[in-house]
Amino acid sequence: MSGFDQARSAGAVSGEPEPSPAKSPRRLFVKSYGCQMNVYDARKMADVLAPEGYAETALLEEADLVILNTCHIRERATEKVFSELGKLRALKAARAEAGRETKIVVAGCVAQAEGEEIFRRQKAVDIVVGPQNYHRLPELLRRAKTSRAVLETEFPAESKFDHLAAPGPSEIRKRGVSAFVTVQEGCDKFCTFCVVPYTRGAEASRPVEGIAAEVAMLAAGGVREVTLIGQNVNAYHGETRDGATTSLAGLTSRLAQVSGIARIRYTTSHPGDMDASLIKAHRDQPCLMPFLHLPVQSGSDKILAAMNRRYKRSDYLALIAEIRAARPDIALSSDFITGFPGETEEDFGATLDLIEKVEFANAFSFKYSARPGTPAAELQNQIPEAVKLERLLRLQAILDRQRLSFNRKMAGRKLDVLIEKPGRHAGQIAGKSPYLQPVQMEGSLDRIGDIVRVEIVSSCGNSLFGRLLPDRPAREALR
Ligand code: SAH
Ligand code: SF4
Ligand code: F3S
Repeated sequence: MSGFDQARSAGAVSGEPEPSPAKSPRRLFVKSYGCQMNVYDARKMADVLAPEGYAETALLEEADLVILNTCHIRERATEKVFSELGKLRALKAARAEAGRETKIVVAGCVAQAEGEEIFRRQKAVDIVVGPQNYHRLPELLRRAKTSRAVLETEFPAESKFDHLAAPGPSEIRKRGVSAFVTVQEGCDKFCTFCVVPYTRGAEASRPVEGIAAEVAMLAAGGVREVTLIGQNVNAYHGETRDGATTSLAGLTSRLAQVSGIARIRYTTSHPGDMDASLIKAHRDQPCLMPFLHLPVQSGSDKILAAMNRRYKRSDYLALIAEIRAARPDIALSSDFITGFPGETEEDFGATLDLIEKVEFANAFSFKYSARPGTPAAELQNQIPEAVKLERLLRLQAILDRQRLSFNRKMAGRKLDVLIEKPGRHAGQIAGKSPYLQPVQMEGSLDRIGDIVRVEIVSSCGNSLFGRLLPDRPAREALR
C-alpha cells in the first residue's frame, strides 16, 4: 500500500497555488466504455476540466490528458480497459521522447472496483478515480504533479452534483437536441450477478430543483428531449422545493413545465419500482414518451430467485399488462442474461416463452459473466461458455424477429419525429420516433430541433424511412 497517495479529504492540497488557465489549451481525450451514466459522467468531466484550460480533442495522439471512463459490468468490458492501457503506455513513452507529457487517468467503475490494483497492472497510469469523485479531478491533477499513483475511490459525503461546472450554450448546442441527465445514482438491490451496488454505491436521488435547473439550462441551449438516467431510475425519490419527497412521476411532471422541453424519457428501471403513479404518468403526461426499458433478465422463477430479482415471472407479466392498459402503444424493451448459474434448458425455455408472450420492440442480451466479489460468481453450478452462447444466439434470434416486426408495422403510420441531425445522405435529415426508432427523411437542416409529422414509408433493420408531412397548427406542434 505504501507509495500510493490515497486522498481522504479535499484539504490534501492546501497551500498549492491555483494554476492559471494555460495560454494554448491543453488537450483532453475522454473515452467512455459503460452505460449512459458513464457517458454523462464523461461529459461532466470535460465540463469540470474546461475552466482548467483543457479543450477536448478527438485525436488521442495529441492528448496531454487521457481519461478512460471504464465499465466493470462484464469481464470483457474490464479486459478491454487493460488492453487499451497497454497501448496508452506506448503512446505516453513516445510523446515523452518528443518532450511532451501525457497524464493517464482511469475513471469509472473499474477504477472503483480495482483501485490500486490498476497501478500494479499498468504503471503508466497516473490517477485512478471512482465515479463519485470526478468533480475532484482538478485537485487530483494538481496532486499528480508531485505524487505518483494518485488514488481517489472513497465514497464522499458531499454529492458530486453540487460541484459540477455547467457547459456553455455553444457546447450544449454542439452536443445536440437530445440530452442525458443523471437523476439517481447507485443501487441497493444487490442482484447476485451485478457489480453496480459495489461500484456506484448506495442509491441516492438528486433534488428536483437541481435537476430542473440543469434541464432549463439545456433547454436554453436548444435541447428538446431529456432522458433521465440512473441505475434504478424509477426508484427515484428526490427532495422537492418544499422539503417533501417526490417519485419519478412527480419529477417528470415538474420537468415537463420547463420551457422548450417537449420529450422526456427515463432509463433504466427495475420492475419492482414501477409504481402506480409512474404507470399513470404514461397515460396522463404527454411529454413522457411511450417507450419503456424494463429489464426482466430471466423468465424462470427459480433463476429470478437465485438472481435476487425479487419478482416472479407472473409479477412481470401482470405489470406489463397494467402498463399496456395505461398506454396501449407503449414500446417495451428489456435486458436478458443467458447461462446464469444453474439455468437448465427448461429455465431457459421459460425465458423464451416470456419473450413470446410480451413481444419486445428492442432488447439487450448478454451471456452471464461471473464478476469477482458477487455472490453468483461463487455458485458451484456455473454453465459452460458454449451453452451460454448457444442460448444467447437462440434468444437473440427471437428478439431480432420481434424488433423487425415492430419496425415493419410502422409503415403507413404517421409519427411525430424529433429531428436531431443531418441524415446519412445529402439532403436528408434524421431523428427519433416516440418509440426511439431512428427515422430518416428528405428535409432541410434548419428543421433540426423541430418535432415534425412524418409518414413512415418503409423500414430497414433498425431504421425507418419516411416523408415529411405539412406542419400541424402551431398550438399542437410543440408537444
Ligand atoms: N439496473 C438495471 C441494470 C443495470 S446493468 C436493472 O436492474 O435491470 C445492465 C444490464 O447488464 C443488466 O440488466 C444485465 O442484463 C446485464 N448484466 C449485469 N451484470 C451482468 C453479468 N454479471 N453478466 C451478464 N450480464 C450482466
Ligand atoms: Fe445491478 Fe440489480 Fe441494481 Fe440493476 S437492480 S443495478 S441489475 S444490482
Ligand atoms: Fe458499467 Fe458502471 Fe455503468 S459497471 S454499466 S459503467 S454503472
